[in-house]
Amino acid sequence: MSPKPAFDDCPFGIGHTPLTRFSIDLGGHRHELCLKEERHNEFGSIKDRVAWHVLSGTIAQTGPVSAVVDASSGNYGYALARIGERLGIDVTIVSSPSISAYNAAGIRDAGARLVIAEAQPGETSNAARVRGARELGEREDLTFLDQYSNPLNPASHAEWTAPEVFADGPFDACFVTSSSGGTARGFSDYLKARGNPVPLYLVEPQASGAFLDAPQAGGKLKIPGYGSQRRSSFSGMKPDPNMIRIDEPSTLAAFALLHEYGLAEVGLSSVGVMLGAIDWLSRQDAPSCAVCICADGDERYLDEFESRYVPSVERADYDAARARLRPVIGSMERLAEARERKALQA
Ligand SMILES: Cc1ncc(COP(=O)(O)O)c(C=O)c1O
Repeated sequence: MSPKPAFDDCPFGIGHTPLTRFSIDLGGHRHELCLKEERHNEFGSIKDRVAWHVLSGTIAQTGPVSAVVDASSGNYGYALARIGERLGIDVTIVSSPSISAYNAAGIRDAGARLVIAEAQPGETSNAARVRGARELGEREDLTFLDQYSNPLNPASHAEWTAPEVFADGPFDACFVTSSSGGTARGFSDYLKARGNPVPLYLVEPQASGAFLDAPQAGGKLKIPGYGSQRRSSFSGMKPDPNMIRIDEPSTLAAFALLHEYGLAEVGLSSVGVMLGAIDWLSRQDAPSCAVCICADGDERYLDEFESRYVPSVERADYDAARARLRPVIGSMERLAEARERKALQA
């Protein structure tokens, strides 16, 4: 099945990202772990698709725009800023103090304006940036794209990302994470519309409540794009996605190990998603194939890994996770390489 022709008109190098296959030993079985590497989009993340679809769809609905504003945890803002730069559209991004240095610099470098919204007492950071963007839009007559509620956000995944992924199947289960919730909702809508029974798993840190009725108690989110403390506008789908909780010390430890072994150059939220898939695979009683949607690449985190992310968790938890995960990550092998090695040995 190929993506909808509408996305073929995208003038940027977005979409048709590679799927990288690994083998991994768990629970006495050799499983397959597949990574949809969205870092290969032209502006470096899965949010390239959303920024393009939300902007082009808004223009199609309302006519040309000269200045837009939106809220972002970072990657969407980066993509929108780069797209605006190329199309001659002024872009304002309202983000949170937690934005990565990489994305903040990239947004400014693209000539866009970056506004940091401080949350008021009792307000989540996500709600603060959405409020900030809406208010700026009204005050300055900017077009508010509203990715956190705009149905074009999940539609970009239902009609573009998911068809690409499942064209490379079959898979026994699919793993995503959530910030706006657009990816999770888009994949859920895609699978439901096709009657595809592949289970969808949402992998999130404990403090996220993106797909819960009641807000999650306690704890701060530590990784941009990995979870949300505000219920997603796109939640409430039937059936609700299955949930797997993966903590940040494990995510950070696995990120470091993947680097050490030179295995995968995916970003932090993607490593959380991989660990969710590994957790699921370890409970299967036959060799299985899991696909992980990997939102971005490691370049967005490496500069701040030691100075910001590792100190955000307890050192003892991080060290314990490293020891626990070392044999698991160490058993991973890129499948193309494994096949080449076997051919040489034959
Ligand atoms: C690094 C990263 N991972 C995952 C996500 C989650 O995507 P979504 O907004 O579709 O829930 C985002 C979104 O900003 C992200 O930046």
